[in-house]
Amino acid sequence: MKVVVTGARGMLGSELIDILTPLVTCIGVDIDDFDITEEDQAIKGVMGLNPDIVVHTAAYTNVDNCERDKELAYRVNGEGTRNIAIACSRIDAMMIYISTDYVFDGTKGEVYHEDDQPNPLNIYGDSKLRGEKEIQETLSDYLIIRTSWLYGPKGKNFVDTILRIAREKKELKIVNDQVGSPTFTIDLANAISRLIDLKGKGVINVANSGSCSWYGFAQKIIELSGINGVTLTPISSHQSDRPAKRPYYSVIDCSRFRDLTGYLLRRWEEALAEYLK
Ligand SMILES: NC(=O)c1ccc[n+]([C@@H]2O[C@H](COP(=O)([O-])OP(=O)(O)OC[C@H]3O[C@@H](n4cnc5c(N)ncnc54)[C@H](OP(=O)(O)O)[C@@H]3O)[C@@H](O)[C@H]2O)c1
Repeated sequence: MKVVVTGARGMLGSELIDILTPLVTCIGVDIDDFDITEEDQAIKGVMGLNPDIVVHTAAYTNVDNCERDKELAYRVNGEGTRNIAIACSRIDAMMIYISTDYVFDGTKGEVYHEDDQPNPLNIYGDSKLRGEKEIQETLSDYLIIRTSWLYGPKGKNFVDTILRIAREKKELKIVNDQVGSPTFTIDLANAISRLIDLKGKGVINVANSGSCSWYGFAQKIIELSGINGVTLTPISSHQSDRPAKRPYYSVIDCSRFRDLTGYLLRRWEEALAEYLK
């Protein structure tokens, strides 16, 4: 089986390549190989590799920058995804797309199921939802995996940022009214590998179990890393001046994943402890 992974240098893409390489013929591609927004290049690029499966992790992922550069966000996350979907349809390849909890507005007050109505609050979420729709309109054979709050060894992430600021400044103000599920890229990459094995289709939520606020996440990072003398202050979303609005409660229910695979990803605290080791 041949699997192409887009976004090969990204935080999730690079992890996924490490995990899939011993199992299948795995080819990673990134913007140096072809720009997914260039229709011709992208379609020919994927078709030329003739994969059975494309895992499309490439995206414009900076949530605040998406507000500043809307056009680019839709071009990469919407049109770029459509180009990959067109290529998959021409060669009859299965497409796996990595989407986000930010397709939801967070007002439900309880966990989101795959069939709940999306209503993104920010450009990033809306452009990723556009990507989902492009796939659904182009392909019958697809898997959309919605995940949340990623961190891992191979990319810039919240955990590393908190560690750096805690060491440098010893004082942090962190939002405590947005709740989600931090997810370790290694756990997610293993879950994607399992879903490939089991031929998962449709929309499936995958995140580490449990949930916390960004403040709770930061508290745990500092506790587990043993950095002393840090003052952590909870603030509200209104007090933080981020350009992108974010959902208050975007925890995703992973029972569809459990029913298919027979397991749930471990709790976020356990995964975080492993990452910090
Ligand atoms: N990070 C999260 O918290 C999170 C949460 C939920 C879902 N997701 C989704 O999970 C996936 C992986 O996220 P991640 O954090 O691992 O992403 P990432 O580290 O930002 O990696 C994305 C990769 O895509 C590449 N890329 C960007 N624009 C491209 C273009 N026009 N053509 C080709 N490649 C391009 C990037 O290259 P450059 O670095 O050169 O730009 C980068 O290597 C994404 O689809 C994201 O939307 C992420």
